[in-house]
Amino acid sequence: MLGNFTYWNPTKLIFGKESLNSLADELKPYGNRILLVYGGGSIKKNGIYDSVMKILKDNGKEVFEDAGVMPNPTYKKLLGGIKIARENKIDFILAVGGGSVVDYSKALSASINLEGDPWEHYYEKQEECECLPVPVGCILTMVGTGSEMNGGAVITNSDKKLKIGKVFGAYMNPKFSILNPEFTYSVPQYQMIAGIYDAFNHICEQYFSDGDDCASDYIMEGLMRSLIHSSLVATKDPLNYEARSNIMWDATWALNTLVGKGKTEDWMVHMIGQAIGAVTNATHGMTLSAVSIAYYNYVLKFGIPQFKKFALNVWNVDPKNKTDEEIAKEGISCMKNWMEEIGLVMDVTTLGVTKDNLEDCVNATIIFPAGFTSLTKDDVRNIIVNSMKK
Ligand code: NZQ
Ligand code: ZN
Repeated sequence: MLGNFTYWNPTKLIFGKESLNSLADELKPYGNRILLVYGGGSIKKNGIYDSVMKILKDNGKEVFEDAGVMPNPTYKKLLGGIKIARENKIDFILAVGGGSVVDYSKALSASINLEGDPWEHYYEKQEECECLPVPVGCILTMVGTGSEMNGGAVITNSDKKLKIGKVFGAYMNPKFSILNPEFTYSVPQYQMIAGIYDAFNHICEQYFSDGDDCASDYIMEGLMRSLIHSSLVATKDPLNYEARSNIMWDATWALNTLVGKGKTEDWMVHMIGQAIGAVTNATHGMTLSAVSIAYYNYVLKFGIPQFKKFALNVWNVDPKNKTDEEIAKEGISCMKNWMEEIGLVMDVTTLGVTKDNLEDCVNATIIFPAGFTSLTKDDVRNIIVNSMKK
């Protein structure tokens, strides 16, 4: 472990089939005026809304609603939410949904008492929240982002064609997160596999950096093996509790900041994916799968020892009579085969990237000097072009 770090994660996780029963107790320390934040209506169809409302009403809560949080939540929507929260003097935000709802709720939490413009403050300038955040709790219904146990809040500014993440300090983590794998059964298959790859890629982003013997790498290899195994079960048998619960738990640990400790980390697949998301509004996990193979093939030569370790320890590649580079490349081929098998989108053309909007995608990509090499805008363009349908 070469890095120096502080690890602090204040989110209380309640996991399993009975986890919603804890909601009333978890809300006790907070005021009675609850803002229920949710998405486009899936929680009304699958009954989660009714179950949550009953608990809130039975416990004397006054409930206000901010519905219609869209996938890839927008700045415009956030401004509307701030108005609702201020007008109703909200004490607590209860996010019921996937990463979009949870991210939005954190952005809202940081903005209610902010004097000034949240986009400028948190997204353009990447400043911390210095006003009083309104506490957030989470009931997760879709697996992948890790938002249930981190301070991340990604917001899309459609006018500016930008999608930017703000990673707040742990003070912005949900106070509690209720994780019932059965709540994810109604997620459509496309979203389920997108979420699985989102979680897998969060691990890749942290794994593909450095090259020392690092405990975090061993943890990540275990999580990746679990995700690969469970995804193959869940895609064929989506109501398999064992597989869905493992995927849910893996995804939380993939991005609750633990596995990046001691690492420099990469995050360029996410930066390119987010840019494509800003331009096309495609599903987050699919924007990552569509560029991943081109990206890893592009940077592999700068990090062969780590890609070799990935091939051996995650994919059980047989090293006999092969060079390190051959072993490393075989690891990426195994990953590609698995991605195709579970049904991920493997090209950006399918997501709506064309020659006409290619430059928008390049321009919207934020470049970090991380991972094994620092990309230029030309590199980003090459990677996106390499990800187009041939
Ligand atoms: O809006 P509803 O009706 O709820 O439908 C949603 C939405 O259409 C549906 N869904 C969710 N739970 C369901 C369900 N449908 C049926 N049954 C259920 N139980 O699924 C669709 C996608 O939901 P969404 O919340 O958008 O998906 P996800 O969890 O993948 O979140 C994506 C957002 O999170 C951001 C992404 O950029 C994107 O904006 N991310 C957040 C991160 C973080 N906080 O650390 C990191 C990630 O890398 C990511 O960037
Ligand atoms: Zn992600």
